[in-house]
Amino acid sequence: IRCQSTSTEEPKTKRNLLDNASNLLTNLLSGGSLGSMPTAEGAVTDLFDRPLFFSLYDWFLEHGSVYKLAFGPKSFVVVSDPIVARHILRENAFSYDKGVLADILEPIMGKGLIPADLDTWKQRRRVIAPGFHALFLEAMAKIFTDCSERTISKFEKLLEREDLGEEKAIELDLEAEFSSLALDIIGLGVFNYDFGSVTKESPVIKAVYGTLFEAEHRSTFYIPYWKIPLARWIVPRQRKFQKDLKFINDCLDGLIRNAKETRQETDVEKLQQRDYLNLKDASLLRFLVDMRGADVDDRQLRDDLMTMLIAGHETTAAVLTWAVFLLAQHPSKMEKAQAEIDSVLGQGRTTFECLKKLEYIRLIVVEALRLYPQPPLLIRRSLKSDVLPGGYKGEKDGYSIPAGTDIFISVYNLHRSPYFWDQPHEFEPERFLVARKSEGIEGWAGFDPSRSPGAMYPNEIISDFAFLPFGGGPRKCVGDQFALMESTIALAMLLQKFSVELKGSPESVELVTGATIHTKNGLWCKVRKRSSIH
Ligand code: HEM
Repeated sequence: IRCQSTSTEEPKTKRNLLDNASNLLTNLLSGGSLGSMPTAEGAVTDLFDRPLFFSLYDWFLEHGSVYKLAFGPKSFVVVSDPIVARHILRENAFSYDKGVLADILEPIMGKGLIPADLDTWKQRRRVIAPGFHALFLEAMAKIFTDCSERTISKFEKLLEREDLGEEKAIELDLEAEFSSLALDIIGLGVFNYDFGSVTKESPVIKAVYGTLFEAEHRSTFYIPYWKIPLARWIVPRQRKFQKDLKFINDCLDGLIRNAKETRQETDVEKLQQRDYLNLKDASLLRFLVDMRGADVDDRQLRDDLMTMLIAGHETTAAVLTWAVFLLAQHPSKMEKAQAEIDSVLGQGRTTFECLKKLEYIRLIVVEALRLYPQPPLLIRRSLKSDVLPGGYKGEKDGYSIPAGTDIFISVYNLHRSPYFWDQPHEFEPERFLVARKSEGIEGWAGFDPSRSPGAMYPNEIISDFAFLPFGGGPRKCVGDQFALMESTIALAMLLQKFSVELKGSPESVELVTGATIHTKNGLWCKVRKRSSIH
């Protein structure tokens, strides 16, 4: 599905739906086996001139929270209801697989967790998820801080230049800077490899970006021409992709070989005693190799690492990008954030303990994820026929869907649903502090923190699937806490030192989507040293 650029202005709630092309679409939509389900009647042009999730939102307001949509001969069910999402993701999770998404990602991630078939997934999830335990995360906090410091000192050096003039500001594409920062963090945290991308370019970094670029191209292109025999040798971009992939795979194979060869019993003991802070290499690869011995299949391990490299890089960079984009438009919230940072950190470093006190920064991170979820759609395909439950309004009968139905769970729609959020398009981190339940909002349970005691960040459990920043159910993101901590630390450290202003108007920041929502031409900002740090 191709999603093209648009400005960041909000989707229109009422659209002029009829044009010549819509007749064609209407005909296509009227077929299919999903009988009584409401059908979206959109203009074909809707699909081409702006990201798809904007159109899905307008159709949600018009047709309700479960509707059918067709592209050419193919139809999809679009879900924007928390109860139905909960059913697909959690209650009946094993009746669905990743469908189209797995087709796209399998050539890159192999049998990594995201595209993996159910049997492989069950085996690997059991091995990988324990690697993300609290002590690992605590050890990671140092990596998040060290890498953020590199970015800060890069900015400081640029700000020392004498030709900055009166403004004393540097102009930077912060999206690109966050992308480098997140790449360095994921490299060190997952396989103890320092890409050093904040400060330099290297062939391996180019190959990683080339591969991500191709993953995005594939997720936004209608015809999977890369499956045609010989296409990988004839089409230049496919040849380049194969070259990039081989480059990264060789690099990962080298790291795996090294991790196996350097396995030491003393490290294994430290791991067993959870003595993470005294380990020289606390990476996930070390954990996977040390705890499982030499019996780990190299190919599988490589697929796991590649999956985490891709899943954990652009997503986190996008959260930071949109958090800054939103804050820059709300000076009073920026001030509030910086006041919190000053009072918690002063001029010191961020530590794991500080995170608990950086409440407003944590809420900014989750509010950025609410408004710009990464990815904006979750994709599933039913493996057998199923009956979807009635939605949150308490309807008794849901819709029957046959095996093979492709489903988009629109996280974007859920996160901006006027049924669950006050002023859904507004940036309001404080909203998560309000116990909506006590306001007695009808038909909706509202936030209930007691469902997830001790959670540092709002999640799908306390919102009963109205807020799904990391999915939900058994295939929920394994790196959620890693990513949240990383974003909180990086944002706090950046705002501790610098003030940030958008270079142009917010409307001039154009959106594109593939797996994540990102900008078309970068997030260009004016960055200055903060004049007063209290
Ligand atoms: C899965 C979001 C960071 C590794 C997912 C899913 C979402 C998500 C929504 C569920 C996909 C689905 O159900 O189809 C995010 C966001 C991140 C982030 C928004 C950053 C802010 C990370 C990081 C890692 C990671 C840092 C690893 C270090 C994974 C893996 C899966 C996954 C392995 C597949 C889990 C499974 O199927 O068992 N992520 N993720 N993610 N994520 Fe993340």
